[in-house]
Amino acid sequence: MSNTDNPDKKQRHQETRILHVGRDTTKQFGFVNPPIVRGSTVVYPDYDSLTSREVDYTYGRQGTPTTRSLETVIADIEGGYQTVLPPSGLAALACALSAFLKSGDHILVTDSVYRPTRRFCDEVLLRMNIETTYYDPSLGSDIASLVKSNTRLIFLEAPGSQTFEMQDIPAIVSVARDKDIWTVMDNTWASPLYFKPFEFDIDVSVQAATKYIIGHSDAMLGSITANERAFELIEQNFINFGLCPGPEDAYLGLRGIRTMPVRLKRHWESGVKIARWLREQPEIARVLHPALETDPGYALWERDFLGASGLFSIIMNGGSEAATRAFLDRLELFAMGYSWGGFESLAIPFDPTSYRTAVPWSAEGTAFRLHVGLDEPDDLIADLESALYAWKHAA
Ligand SMILES: Cc1ncc(COP(=O)(O)O)c(C=O)c1O
Repeated sequence: MSNTDNPDKKQRHQETRILHVGRDTTKQFGFVNPPIVRGSTVVYPDYDSLTSREVDYTYGRQGTPTTRSLETVIADIEGGYQTVLPPSGLAALACALSAFLKSGDHILVTDSVYRPTRRFCDEVLLRMNIETTYYDPSLGSDIASLVKSNTRLIFLEAPGSQTFEMQDIPAIVSVARDKDIWTVMDNTWASPLYFKPFEFDIDVSVQAATKYIIGHSDAMLGSITANERAFELIEQNFINFGLCPGPEDAYLGLRGIRTMPVRLKRHWESGVKIARWLREQPEIARVLHPALETDPGYALWERDFLGASGLFSIIMNGGSEAATRAFLDRLELFAMGYSWGGFESLAIPFDPTSYRTAVPWSAEGTAFRLHVGLDEPDDLIADLESALYAWKHAA
């Protein structure tokens, strides 16, 4: 069960590898899972190892056997060179972006980006004299027209947060390569299982491991995985910011990731089933889910992605605050919560009109983001049917 460099092992399916990589039972006292290593100080066996620092572990913040195990699994499954683990998804995004930037630089960020990433650009990067231009997520190679002489980085997120626009990733990466610009992607929606950023020549992939990797809504964690050329800058920035995850949280990531393939398949299948049902309901104008054949992003999703998660949105026909309240309060299995990726089903209203800048957001009515959890999908459909009834009678 040890993780060796045997090349045959690389040929195994990711569903198998995810169970084995990063585990070496000979170093775990025979236990299936590695122990949670808590620690700050590492004591060195002799003067030579103290001065050369040629030991596996040097200090708690610089990695423990627990964090190294999880880094190894994520790097293997996502397909990158190496991984570091900041303590949240947003910390990972902030660390990944700032690793490449200095005063006077310019970056291109998709208009459909996760809102706190946008806030980081608009507040922290702006204060450091780094300019952000938000671009239409539907831009492919035309993104070249937005590149300036000081553009250092293009940030992608596909599908977009809340609004689920797909991006033509190979077209954007090809412009970035031509112009020697770094590419960083938030790959949380697809997880390391369903989109392989490094096969598309992306430099850096960020995960909010808080979502599907942890998978049980009981810890916060992030990951940054990079290719070989980007990793040195990422690792330096990670070290300079003093980032490190809590030992329990890293362990929960490790425990969660082993079962991610079975969980994610269920989220995907249930999500598509429910999205198809929702598409037929008269109260609903549009379902924003790139794995639906009718979605404008379907062709790109089908070409580039290996699966879908359980997160998508619906746009209602019209709406009112009373109808929103009636819909959300009637739901019993979908709870209201600003996260996703756990076993539970969730629903929240959202309105991007106030912050989208490249492409003004216009929609027929109220928008809800749904996370389809691991419940039996027919029960979730019945729950939604009852909430739509409440919506109709409150509208
Ligand atoms: C797409 C996306 N990226 C990043 C994050 C941030 O992750 P965290 O909450 O772990 O900071 C989130 C959280 O909702 C998210 O949805």
